[in-house]
Amino acid sequence: MTRYHVYDRSQTYDWNFEHAPDVDLTPQRAPAYPDHLAPPAQMGSYTFCGLPVESPLGIAAGPLLNGKWLVYYARLGYSTLTYKTVRCQPRDSYPLPNLQPILESEIRDGDLVTATETTQDSWAISFGMPSRHPDWWQADIRKALAQLASGQRLIVSVVASPAAEWTIDQIAADYAQCARRAAETGADCIELNLSCPNVVSADGRLYGHPPAAARVAHEVHKAVPHLPLLLKIGFVPDALAAERLVDAVAGSCNGLSMVNCLSARVKGPRGLLFDGQPRGIGGTAIRNQCLQQVERFAAAIEKLNVPLHLIGVGGISQPHHIQSYLDAGAEAVHVATAAILRPQLAAEWRVWTAARSAPG
Ligand SMILES: Cc1cc2nc3c(=O)[nH]c(=O)nc-3n(C[C@H](O)[C@H](O)[C@H](O)COP(=O)(O)O)c2cc1C
Repeated sequence: MTRYHVYDRSQTYDWNFEHAPDVDLTPQRAPAYPDHLAPPAQMGSYTFCGLPVESPLGIAAGPLLNGKWLVYYARLGYSTLTYKTVRCQPRDSYPLPNLQPILESEIRDGDLVTATETTQDSWAISFGMPSRHPDWWQADIRKALAQLASGQRLIVSVVASPAAEWTIDQIAADYAQCARRAAETGADCIELNLSCPNVVSADGRLYGHPPAAARVAHEVHKAVPHLPLLLKIGFVPDALAAERLVDAVAGSCNGLSMVNCLSARVKGPRGLLFDGQPRGIGGTAIRNQCLQQVERFAAAIEKLNVPLHLIGVGGISQPHHIQSYLDAGAEAVHVATAAILRPQLAAEWRVWTAARSAPG
């Protein structure tokens, strides 16, 4: 049985960063899919932000802490690989727990949830978007890119690091600067993280202010006009809010990636965790809400007749979940929690689709 190398939630972020899978990043190695995976026969039948890809399944910003983690998951057969959110300024991770399992099997945004000691299939995520210096991550991304096969795409997730008094123009300029540094690596796509339930600064909630989101997207699009641009957004509760956001950003980006977690406070045996501040919840408990959000945005895009792609994220852990997101209007999907708890999903998706397309 295959033993997978996955993120160890009992260890710190820095420990996991240093204990990446032992993959060879030397440039002379010929990029290729591993032997046990089907060759990219269906290349072109799926797209990601309009770019041809081998499958609709990829990894969301999060589990791929650096180039070694990224190339490891590329070799497991994931087609679109998002380098964990980077900044223009180095930043440390929050302390443990960074991944706190929760008891509930389904939640709503704003709930109070219960911490548990055993790993379930959902957890509160608390990293605070740590980052190395841009010089470091640029060199690391370039090495990883050289290892990808055709039909695989590397996305860099970027965020601003605003001080409390920054104006929206200053925030937009910092996003643009970070995106420019990411684009210099040769990456295929830039994702702007406009939603992080775990940070209290303005960048954590930009998606909730359509004119501000549009200002940032516009500035970044000007800085990297040659690259597809995705906006990663959080929970949007209703159709009208979805339409407002789509209308505001449609001219400045190529797609929306959703949902960056539902937000919840977490109670433990001795009171509230994380100083009573909400954290993003990922995993099975958020799937229904996230799937409904993709349907909501697909309807808004159709109504407003704008050319935006949707990347579905939230609670996917089985091949049929991937299909439901595609049926709901997603062009492609990303997993974060399942990348850690069910890394074999890429292989399972291949078997599942082959069985579905087999005659008889
Ligand atoms: C370990 C981990 C780290 C994450 N870090 C980031 C991050 O740096 N940037 C980001 O936009 N989202 C981050 N996320 C959120 C995921 O990208 C995703 O939106 C969320 O977990 C929901 O997907 P899931 O249910 O498949 O986990 C992280 C998630 C996990 C599990």
